[in-house]
Amino acid sequence: MTFSITRHLPEDATADALCTDVRSGLTANPKTLPPKWFYDAHGSDLFEQITRLPNYYATRAEEEVLAGRAGDIAEATGARTLIELGSGSSTKTRHLLGALSGLHTYIPVDVSESALRESGGTLAHEQPGLTIYAQIADFTNRLILPPTPGPRLVALLGSTIGNLLPAERLAFYASVRTLLQPGDALLLGVDLVKDADVLVAAYADPAVTGAFNKNVLSVVNRELGADFDLDAFEHVAAWDAGHEWIEMRLRSRTAQTVKIPALDMVVDFAAGEDLRTEISAKFRLPDLASELRAAGMDLSRWFTTPAQQVGLALATPAHSGIPSAPECGLF
Ligand code: AVJ
Repeated sequence: MTFSITRHLPEDATADALCTDVRSGLTANPKTLPPKWFYDAHGSDLFEQITRLPNYYATRAEEEVLAGRAGDIAEATGARTLIELGSGSSTKTRHLLGALSGLHTYIPVDVSESALRESGGTLAHEQPGLTIYAQIADFTNRLILPPTPGPRLVALLGSTIGNLLPAERLAFYASVRTLLQPGDALLLGVDLVKDADVLVAAYADPAVTGAFNKNVLSVVNRELGADFDLDAFEHVAAWDAGHEWIEMRLRSRTAQTVKIPALDMVVDFAAGEDLRTEISAKFRLPDLASELRAAGMDLSRWFTTPAQQVGLALATPAHSGIPSAPECGLF
């Protein structure tokens, strides 16, 4: 059994990054905070509760696709190394790990050391033959991976890609493309554009999703000594039809001033002013295929539920290095 854990983030990187994000996000107009700060232990627990909400279909639908199609994914890739970005609890990954019969190495990549230790420890016991090289890293930064046997399959599941702004998303594709040799592949889990009411309902739950949304304020309070009053903000989920993404916001119920001592900052909110805490982009297959193609990847397989709620795209490095006009409908 091989289990090792490597840190690519300096111990204080998280604190530095939080300071930078809070400073720039709360001086911007409109105000924003990035969604990665939801996930302290309490936020991660709230997210697990979200995945069980009747209206939050995405996790169940993706699990359904993985359960049904892991064999096809294994056959199409023949992967010997599985690299999972934002692996978290690695729950859904078990379907892939079970199906990839020739798998030699599993590389979970996550910013959370505790998640990596917990899931890595369990997996090491369950799959004694598997080499596990856990990496503590932010996958939106350049990835440094140990040399492992190919073919390699890079997976980004759970619609995590939807949290990136379009420019960040393209930068991510470009960075993944540099990791892929011929025979390697990217497995991308995306949530699909659907009826606005269904989308909003998946994010509107005031109790659980509202608490998850407000948890970012608790993180800033704890880490930076701020005095956000969570009750003074209202949880808002809105569909942006132009961008085709869900926005989660925190709406200030009154005019108020928040102090952030660690940053020596004072932030004013007007009554009704919104702080954007997350975008969750929804995809259409032809657009996804063309943005992957523009990054030098072909969408070679597509797996979805009968109701087409979410999809898993398998992308492979394009043979010609030069992206041409988008090709759709070939899979
Ligand atoms: C974990 C980023 C996929 O965007 O649906 C759930 C996070 N936010 N409910 C998503 C989330 C509100 C989730 N992702």
